[in-house]
Parts: sequence; C-alpha cells; structure tokens
Amino acid sequence: MRMVDLIAKKRDGKELTTEEINFFIDGYTKGDIPDYQVSAMNMAIYFQDMSDRERADLTMAMVNSGETIDLSAIEGIKVDKHSTGGVGDTTTLVLAPLVAALDIPVAKMSGRGLGHTGGTIDKLESIEGFHVEISKDEFVNLVNQHKIAVIGQTGNLTPADKKLYALRDVTATVNSIPLIASSIMSKKIAAGSDAIVLDVKTGAGAFMKTVEDAKELAHAMVSIGNNVGRKTMAVISDMSQPLGAAIGNSLEVQEAIDALRGQGPKDLEELCLALGRQMVYLAQKADSLEDAEEKLKEVIRNGKALEKFKEFIQNQGGDPSVVDHPDRLPKAQYLIELPAQQDGVVAELVADEIGTAAMLLGAGRATKESEIDLAVGLMLNKKVGDAVKKGDSLVTIHANRENVDDVKQKLYESIRIADHADAPVLIYDIVTE
Ligand code: URA
Ligand code: CA
Repeated sequence: MRMVDLIAKKRDGKELTTEEINFFIDGYTKGDIPDYQVSAMNMAIYFQDMSDRERADLTMAMVNSGETIDLSAIEGIKVDKHSTGGVGDTTTLVLAPLVAALDIPVAKMSGRGLGHTGGTIDKLESIEGFHVEISKDEFVNLVNQHKIAVIGQTGNLTPADKKLYALRDVTATVNSIPLIASSIMSKKIAAGSDAIVLDVKTGAGAFMKTVEDAKELAHAMVSIGNNVGRKTMAVISDMSQPLGAAIGNSLEVQEAIDALRGQGPKDLEELCLALGRQMVYLAQKADSLEDAEEKLKEVIRNGKALEKFKEFIQNQGGDPSVVDHPDRLPKAQYLIELPAQQDGVVAELVADEIGTAAMLLGAGRATKESEIDLAVGLMLNKKVGDAVKKGDSLVTIHANRENVDDVKQKLYESIRIADHADAPVLIYDIVTE
C-alpha cells in the first residue's frame, strides 16, 4: 500500500477502506508516513468529507494508536460527560457528585485548562489539599466504594490525535467535521466509559459559532459513538454568553456548591438537569427521562448530592468544610464593580471576550506553563435579557491587583446594552442519532 495512492483516492472523492485508514494512521503514528503526505490527506478529507463508516474507522484507528483505559474493574455502567468547551462552564463540578449520588459510577479523567479558564482539575485544586495524583488502583477502588473519583491524565492516550491535531493547526484543516468529530471521540473512547453524553456548545464562546454547525458536529460524534458500540447522545447548548454567573476557579467551586444546594444560577441548573437526565437514563437508573430528572431533583432536595460532594473532597485529600464555609476557598484581595454606563437591557455578553477578561486577571493559562491564580475571576451580576440602570454593577471583578483598567475595558467592549434584547435560548436541540 502506498500513501500517495490513498491521497489520490480521497482527493477524487472515493471511500477509503478500513485497512487503508489503519495503514495511514499506523504509519503516521510510527513516523513512517511524513507530515507532508498527511497534510495533503487532511486537505482531501476537508474537501471530500468521509462516510459514517470511514469516520468510525478513523476514530478507532486513533484509539488503537496508543494506550486505552480499562474501567472494567468498576461495577456498573460508566457514563462520561464531555463538553466541547466554553466560558465559566461549571457543569462537570455539579454533575459528577449529582450523578454519583444516584449510585452511578463517575470515573473521571480530567485535564488542566488551557485558555479562558481552568479545567476541572484546576477548579478542584482550589480546595485546600485536594489532589488528583492517585494510583490507578486507588482510582478504581474509590469509584467502586464511593461512585466518584477524578484522576489526572495518565498514560499515552491517542498519540495519533496529538500529532494530527498539531499538524491540522498549521495547515488550515482544524475546521473539518470528520476530523474534529474523530479527534474528540477518539479521546473519549480511549478513556474507557460505556456511554457518553456530549454537550456541544454553540455561539461566540464555542468552537462552532452557528447552531447548524453545532448540530452537524453533534450528529457526527453521536454516529461515531453508536457505530463503535458506545451509547452516545448530545445536547446542543448556548455559549454565546458565559454559563451561570461565576468565571474563575474558586468562584466556580462556590457556584457548584450553590447549584448542588438547589440555589445555583437558573441556566446552570437547567443545563445540569438536561445533561444529567441523559446520563441517568444511559446508565439505566431510570425508566424515562422524566423519571431521571425527578431523581436528580430529589438528591438535590434531600442533600445527598451535597453530601456526595463532601465525601468526594474528603476522599481525595481535600478539606470538605469548604462546602459549608465557602469563605475558606481562596479569596481575591480586591472586589471591584463594573458600573453600567447607560440604562437599558443587556443584549449581549460575548462569551469568549469575557473569558479573555478573566484570563487577564490570571484565571486561565495563556500557555501550558503559565501559573494560574485560583482566587481571581468574574461574577456576572446581569445576564442577557436583564434590565439595567446606569450605575448598576454589571460584573464584580475579583482581582489580586488594584488596577484593573485593562479588564474593565475588555468587559465594556464585550457587554452590549440596548433598548431591548431577544430572550436567550439555552438548549437548542437533543441529538440521539
Ligand atoms: N477539540 C479536539 O479535541 N479536537 C479537534 O479537532 C477540535 C477540538
Ligand atoms: Ca459558571
């Protein structure tokens, strides 16, 4: 088999066989096939697309390029949740204990954040003592005993994806549905769960800027998952404005605690229930989605979800007293208000711009090596659709420096106040096939 023939075949719009896709991915991972041929192949895929069968084969070839996580020692149906990324997305912190409180195993491998705000691990590390450097055995034991544990990224998962993604980044081939879908799904499948709930974001703060594009990506990922034997479904949710009120690591932990008490921001609670009910249903712990949602609400009402969060913190070396005393979380030195400059209605809170403002404060990483400040961030006091009077605080800036003029300027540029605003939509669609 010669790579040049496979490139020509795809260039001419034909379907690659399973063997051909395996040859291409194996050869590239081992270094036998050079970057320039793979660049040409990616561009051919970009223009000619791939069939559902090719997409599933490409995904599995990437899964098989490295190690995979075996979760079979954990009892029950393991359901993972994955978000395509957003600003102030606190859902994982809420959903993990919420779902575990219903005896559904949550075995989460997580990364650190790059960009806008921290990742789930960064957020959890704002709890004194909390650590994710646990052994594989300890991880499995914790999930079996307590239904919940988080471990840092271990092993050499999907090396083919790492190489391909870096190459796509510099050859204008990131934005291709088959390539994005196989990239994301290969990592989820290698991480070992039985079922996957995807939160595909759309809007300014998301990878997919339009609802149509988000739907297409969701269909592609759901189809891959189901074709390779992992039950998969997707919720398409809004990321034109940040989710909830808090953006920043310890602020989001506090927001998650509020949500687990049933006192979180409305949009965050609504999205957590929408994702959570799919997780409970896929885990076969409810007869219907309505039943699943009722069960989730019940563990919020009776305090079991909050208890589960404390148990989880304790198990991984953290101080569970932060749940009842959130003032024990890292606190910023200065709280600075951002006053509205006119009367009106908030028409836009551009998510990615607001994420950048939080990053200026030190809440996110510009490069993998950057240190982040767990205490700083933003609290949105108004969301899209809220009426404001001149002088009302739009945002409370939690900073560890006194002068935040750069952050204020960025925020003013990203918040639009008008005479009226369309009611924001939170959930656009549910994709199950
Ligand atoms: N995120 C990924 O993991 N892969 C892509 O291709 C795009 C976004
Ligand atoms: Ca939030």
